[in-house]
Amino acid sequence: MAAARMATRIAANANAAIDKTEKVLAHIEELANKRFLHIVSSRKAELLEKLVRKSKPAFAVETGTLIGYSAIRIARNLPVNGKLVSIEINKLRAAEAGKNISAAGLSGKVDVVVGEAASVLGSLKSGVNFVFFDVADYLACLKALERNGCIEEGCIVVANNVMWFADRLAPYLAYVRKSGLYRSVYYDFGFDGMEVSLKK
Ligand SMILES: C[S@@+](CC[C@H](N)C(=O)[O-])C[C@H]1O[C@@H](n2cnc3c(N)ncnc32)[C@H](O)[C@@H]1O
Repeated sequence: MAAARMATRIAANANAAIDKTEKVLAHIEELANKRFLHIVSSRKAELLEKLVRKSKPAFAVETGTLIGYSAIRIARNLPVNGKLVSIEINKLRAAEAGKNISAAGLSGKVDVVVGEAASVLGSLKSGVNFVFFDVADYLACLKALERNGCIEEGCIVVANNVMWFADRLAPYLAYVRKSGLYRSVYYDFGFDGMEVSLKK
């Protein structure tokens, strides 16, 4: 009987945590509409979440936190000990993201680092298992991680907006598709696309 009560309480706590996170995500979606903030679309976020759940990364990184939307969607799917470092150049946005991430109950899983993406990634020492590029020079960022030996075998690298910025991102796409270091697939969302590359 005690075990059954305990299981009910654990399930109730888990549901409360999910509700809290969903409320924060809905609040950010509303703010993004009002303030014209470019958060990742919901269909793209679903792909991100699916990839995180499947790959169970111990250490994930993201470029461009804005106010924490994609960070929350990544972080809530990390394994128990998984961590996300999310990099944001604008300190006011980073502070707002920190508040949202905390309200979503995920501050133990996410570190928002204020700085320029490629330079912060270039200073990392730990192996990375999941990357979400949403801003900055993706190729410079990827090479910064490679130089440090931080891209683990099996690391999944997701690059956003590769159709919108096809010209600017051509060198990045050529690299992940043709260097022989990655197996790379394009996901078409109609209005835009994401490139998902797996480190061999
Ligand atoms: C498209 S938004 C990120 C959206 C966020 N990933 C989401 O879906 O919720 C891009 C963010 O990157 C930041 N940013 C721009 N250039 C940067 C850079 N070189 N390094 C780090 N952050 C940068 C901007 O201030 C902005 O907040």
